[in-house]
Amino acid sequence: MSGSTILGMGHYVPPRVVTNNDLAILMDTTDEWITQRTGIKERHWIEGDVGASELAEHATRGALAEAGLEPKDIDLILFATLSPDLNFPGSACLLQARLGIPGVAAMDIRNQCTGFLYGLKTADAYIRSGLARNVLLVGAEVHSTGLDVTTRGRDVAVLFGDGAGVAVVGPQTSDDPGAAHVIDTELHADGRFAEILMVEVPASRLNPRLTLEMMEAGRHFPKMDGRSVFKHAVERLPEVIHSILKRNGYTLADVDILVPHQANLRINEMVARQLGFPAEKIVNNIQKYGNTTAASIPMALHEAVQDGRIQKGHLVLLAGFGAGLTWGASLVRW
Ligand code: UT7
Repeated sequence: MSGSTILGMGHYVPPRVVTNNDLAILMDTTDEWITQRTGIKERHWIEGDVGASELAEHATRGALAEAGLEPKDIDLILFATLSPDLNFPGSACLLQARLGIPGVAAMDIRNQCTGFLYGLKTADAYIRSGLARNVLLVGAEVHSTGLDVTTRGRDVAVLFGDGAGVAVVGPQTSDDPGAAHVIDTELHADGRFAEILMVEVPASRLNPRLTLEMMEAGRHFPKMDGRSVFKHAVERLPEVIHSILKRNGYTLADVDILVPHQANLRINEMVARQLGFPAEKIVNNIQKYGNTTAASIPMALHEAVQDGRIQKGHLVLLAGFGAGLTWGASLVRW
């Protein structure tokens, strides 16, 4: 049973840059508040009608080129997103149509900021078991059109950006035994805290699912108990990092680079302090992109590969935490 490798990656953000000062025109906020509390300086937001699958297509073309593969070589699409183009069908189906590969299995993953890691574990399992050969693993989000960009929604609206990150995951072959080998992924969830970060409506558990009154109350916008989410994040992330290292016989000293989810620079700094892990070995790009949820980890990972921070042979640790609650970590030998 062969393991899996990351054969190529791509990432894409829409061209429009929205700075903190741009947001201060729309709502009662300041560049100083956003920078101090989150580290974010700007984010990219789409213009016009652009769905997650369109951003994903751009990133996919890059990932396939890097992997030296064509769309026809893909036999499974996994699409992690909390902002699918449509309520149904899933964005994986829409991306499949864009790529012109009818018949290929396509499935959405609904695990928010941990979606890419849930997808990586699924891709790894499919490949190890021989059920798939080349899996297209996507994290893509269009947040901007779902945010309350008034002062009422400022605690959430300033955090999120649009973007896509894609990995092509394939079997480990004997002629390239060291290439970005996926060693292990550990996943967790705790649904008791589902409501501390959610979009409540439209909802099948409500009848009717959506009313004008609900919309006037802003219940179709994301709601977050930011302090509670922050507290859970800084506890769960160090825990899962210690756990995945221990079960694979590594220590933190073996890790060359940590690529965490990009929710808040302060969360990543606090996690680093708790772990005693050097800040210079952590990849952070939230300053430029904000929180792009399922796209955060693959975007940061690919940037670090492209700018040479990740080198062949490096032990790379990925870690994510988000709504669900969900969290997890992956170890990859680059
Ligand atoms: O990827 C998904 C996971 N998400 C996260 O991990 C997010 C975790 N949470 C956080 O990052 C932080 O909780 C936030 C950055 C969202 C907020 O920071 P905070 O230090 O927890 O602020 P707060 O929510 O306690 O709000 C402090 C004050 C409040 O005013 P009062 O009540 O003290 O007068 C807010 O109304 O800041 C106010 N505030 C703002 N002021 C200016 C909230 N949002 C803004 C804003 N601009 N955008």
